[in-house]
Amino acid sequence: RTVYVNGVFCPENQGVVSIFDRGFLFADGVYEVTSVLDGKLIDFSGHMARLRRSMSELSIPAPASEDELLSIHRQLVDKNALAEGLIYMQVSRGAADRDFLFPAGDIRPSLVLFTQTGQLRDRPAAKTGLKVVTLPDLRWARRDIKTVQLLYPSMAKTEAKRRGADDAWLVEDGFVTEGSSNNAYIVNADGALITRPLSHAILPGITRSAILRLATETGLTVEERPFSIEEALAAREAFITSASSFVMPVVEIDGHKIGDGAPGEIAGRLRAIYIDEAV
Ligand code: PDD
Repeated sequence: RTVYVNGVFCPENQGVVSIFDRGFLFADGVYEVTSVLDGKLIDFSGHMARLRRSMSELSIPAPASEDELLSIHRQLVDKNALAEGLIYMQVSRGAADRDFLFPAGDIRPSLVLFTQTGQLRDRPAAKTGLKVVTLPDLRWARRDIKTVQLLYPSMAKTEAKRRGADDAWLVEDGFVTEGSSNNAYIVNADGALITRPLSHAILPGITRSAILRLATETGLTVEERPFSIEEALAAREAFITSASSFVMPVVEIDGHKIGDGAPGEIAGRLRAIYIDEAV
């Protein structure tokens, strides 16, 4: 694989970042994951807008202009002949002597990108559905910033697997915040689509905003409000969204079947429309 590190395209085993990089020492960095279908970047401008916001919340200067970032993404797609998969981009504050204080003065942010090949369109889980377990949301209180501090989500997903499930839905004060790396939705008995409103409690998913727009356009009632575990267990359908999964049905929560236990019709429809529109 060809990767990109601070201005240079190189083989993946030659990409080098300083051990003093604050991304490594303090998780002082932000990232984006953009999906690629048929060699095309999906929702790139949305990912750029969120990256800009994440950097501005942490006062990390932009490592390159948006045109340059787009060009790096496109070059990586070409160099790796990436037809379908993901591009990971990370911006960290850069390397400096270890100190809790943000370094004063000139420090160059680090910029790293790499590709991951993988099936996004044809995924068995889209037909069988995912099983999730609920776990307490023990992440920090600024989940709206897409930082590389992913230890708790990683622990939660590992715990979910250990319990025989595919992923975790995180819960705070009895209400679902989101999945370990995706936004969470239910469809209730009235057919309304319910998902948590944007706040510091969740990441503003780029796929989420597209799906809510498509849901409204197709005549669904959308309610942006928190939902409880009890409401989720009684739902007709459940699903998640993210750049890496698009829309994936959830068929089981904490061992209880959702609806009839098969992937929901609305989840399937939104997935199809999203993929159709994306390419
Ligand atoms: N995760 N919520 C969290 C906590 C996430 O980490 C993600 C994305 C999302 C969905 O956002 P989007 O639709 O913009 O991908 C929601 C990425 C895919 C990841 O960490 O790999």
